[in-house]
Amino acid sequence: MKEDSRYLLALYTSPRRKGNTALLLDALVAGAGEAAYGAESFYTAEMDIRPCRACNHCFKEGACIQQDDMQIIYPHLSKAGAVAMAAPIFSMNICAQAKALIDRCQRQWSIRYVLEKSPVEPGFAAERKGFFISCCGRDKPDTFTCTRPTLAYFFHIIQVKNWETLAFAGVDEAGDILAVEGAVGRARELGRSLG
Ligand SMILES: Cc1cc2nc3c(=O)[nH]c(=O)nc-3n(C[C@H](O)[C@H](O)[C@H](O)COP(=O)(O)O)c2cc1C
Repeated sequence: MKEDSRYLLALYTSPRRKGNTALLLDALVAGAGEAAYGAESFYTAEMDIRPCRACNHCFKEGACIQQDDMQIIYPHLSKAGAVAMAAPIFSMNICAQAKALIDRCQRQWSIRYVLEKSPVEPGFAAERKGFFISCCGRDKPDTFTCTRPTLAYFFHIIQVKNWETLAFAGVDEAGDILAVEGAVGRARELGRSLG
């Protein structure tokens, strides 16, 4: 892996900066740091990331016509050695902020399947690691089932072959995750595994 790709792209998508998914992603970032693996963090709920307009501009140009903060994220999606998306469950699926970001990856889809280019070398795609972090209030782990196809699509389209989920049910108030035995430690351990 190229030296300048040795970092984790940390996408915090919850509007709660100190919420449960953010605390887990903080631990992942901290663990990565312990292993001398860098991080670029973005609080996407505070950024100007608009939904896809389905204008198909990216079909011709391979670029998104919307000049918003997604333009800052795009280069990292192809460059980072690891990508983590932290997204809580809202109304039985990932929050709208996370979904908007994924929909804007239509640009990546277009580059690959319309323009038939690969922004990521196959060898690098196989090496990259992905993490999906989620929490939900109801105490039912099957709540996360419906997120799987969307996250599988996300990691596929940004060319991250290996990804795993770290999800905890029954955590509702911001900070509840701190009382879940092993949760934060597991996130930290996953971060350290990047080194
Ligand atoms: C708008 C909204 C919708 C929610 N919908 C659900 C839901 O459908 N199922 C569920 O189990 N929890 C739901 N929750 C609870 C959150 O998933 C839970 O509080 C989670 O810990 C939030 O993570 P965060 O602190 O990282 O934002 C909802 C919370 C909000 C604010």
